[in-house]
Amino acid sequence: MSKILITSALPYINGVPHLGHMVGCLLPSDVYARYMRMCGHEVLYICGNDEHGTASEVGALKENMPVQEYCDKYHARHKKVYADFNLSFDYFGRTSSEQNKEITYHIFEQLDKNGFVAEKTMKQVYSVDDKMFLADRYITGTCPHCGYDKARGDQCENCTKVLEPTDLINPHSTISGSSNLEIRETKHLFLNLPKIEEKLVEWLKTKEAFWPDVAYSIAKKWVKEGLQPRCITRDLKWGFSVNKAGFEDKVFYVWFDAPIGYIGITKQWSDENPTKRNWKDWWLDAEGVRYVEFMGKDNVPYHSITFPATLLGTGENWTKVDYLKGMSYLTFAGGKFSKSEHRGVFAEDAVKEFPSDYWRYWLMANAPEASDSSFTFESFVNTINKDLNGVLGNFVQRVLKMTSSKINNTVPQGEELQAEDKELIKILQNRVNDYFKYMEAMEFRKAVNELRAIWVEGNNYISATEPWTVIKENPKRAETILRVCLNLIRIYAILSAPLIPNTAEKMLAKFNLTLANMPTLREFDVATEINALRTGQEFTVGEALFERITPEKMQELQQTYGG
Ligand code: 2FM
Ligand code: ZN
Repeated sequence: MSKILITSALPYINGVPHLGHMVGCLLPSDVYARYMRMCGHEVLYICGNDEHGTASEVGALKENMPVQEYCDKYHARHKKVYADFNLSFDYFGRTSSEQNKEITYHIFEQLDKNGFVAEKTMKQVYSVDDKMFLADRYITGTCPHCGYDKARGDQCENCTKVLEPTDLINPHSTISGSSNLEIRETKHLFLNLPKIEEKLVEWLKTKEAFWPDVAYSIAKKWVKEGLQPRCITRDLKWGFSVNKAGFEDKVFYVWFDAPIGYIGITKQWSDENPTKRNWKDWWLDAEGVRYVEFMGKDNVPYHSITFPATLLGTGENWTKVDYLKGMSYLTFAGGKFSKSEHRGVFAEDAVKEFPSDYWRYWLMANAPEASDSSFTFESFVNTINKDLNGVLGNFVQRVLKMTSSKINNTVPQGEELQAEDKELIKILQNRVNDYFKYMEAMEFRKAVNELRAIWVEGNNYISATEPWTVIKENPKRAETILRVCLNLIRIYAILSAPLIPNTAEKMLAKFNLTLANMPTLREFDVATEINALRTGQEFTVGEALFERITPEKMQELQQTYGG
């Protein structure tokens, strides 16, 4: 058994998550955490809200409430919807916590003491009416290249050219619309990346063999292009005020304290659960920890360069990422999700429409891994009707009903397994091994494919063995076949649990069992598990696991959510 630390990139507090956010790191990390726990490993799975930065200040302003209140409100919403999606975090915390502040201050002090913090005066746009310095993306104006009149100070969305705020024609504040802007001088602190570069490159080299190519090549490209000092402070109110003389009126940049938040949130968990392992056992001079991070691909540079460099610069032995899973993007019917334009399914609405397992299954079966993928209702409805309802749901219901009507509501005794049963066991064991291999490798689409194939084997088996015919001449043989099928339901529940945990519990509940007392996946042997249910064990048929989605419902969904 090893200690596996799993983090999912911390979602920004402002706004509510949509399906793209769910599959962009939250859901894959949950499936992986559930799988690793079921393998018998000691898992700590951490996530939380990323709360600081201009976006929160602007969000609060729009809703006309203090930033703290605004963050409390949205934190509760995030927490609720992730629980509705059955995300099994050990703790879902906040980067604004006292614990995170304490660790951020400590890390900053170490960096400063070791000479990795530099001071620099820079020129920045100040909005006189907003009484604040504006981050580049909060300045709007006309693009000098294409004439687009809503170009942002960092980039033009229309022609994608990278801009400086001073390039914009008619620049104004995105927040108030005021064009009363001035260029003012302001002093900031920088993380001196060039000075840490040597240590960083040495550390990166030890990861080359283990990280996925995409992540490693992004990190390498950054280093190759030359590391620049990164500004780690901002002229804002909302954030941790800087613990250095002369800088107390500034706050740390959101991307400085956000990844440190993984550690701060672990300390939140530790403080609330004093009987569990201490946070330091996971993070500082920790032994035997394998640390796996999940994130969207745009987050890779921060997790492969700036965060490790921050930790290396302390001169202390912090746990650093061992494996980094970067996900691509999910689009909504090929376009963007947009709350204001009512395009796309947002997580809160999703769970009102269908049980979370429907979404979990579609999203993981179509996870944007090697490239972006697109959500459409056609695909969603088709997949749920075919795979969940048609293959898994149908098999379970058919077996339970048939046994109940032809024999009774208990697991029959039957007789010795025949060649065709043994053949099924062999096929399943091979598929199960592949399924585990893909889960270990975090190749989720392939894993779901394999799981579906495992379900299909059950339907193939029952069609080939025809217990409903056999029972007329050889009732003992029919009992054996149905006994195998009933055991398949239990096996399917265990194997499917990381992906569709509620359904897995429902399947086991038919036999009055729960996931809590199932064997670990590490020693999962189909030949043993196919005999796990006792003769005479009672079951209930109950209602079907899934409901077919009608064409009318699909139309209604398309009208409500677009696409
Ligand atoms: O991209 C995002 O949503 C960021 N809030 C992720 C932060 S990850 C970690 F560093 F906190
Ligand atoms: Zn442009």
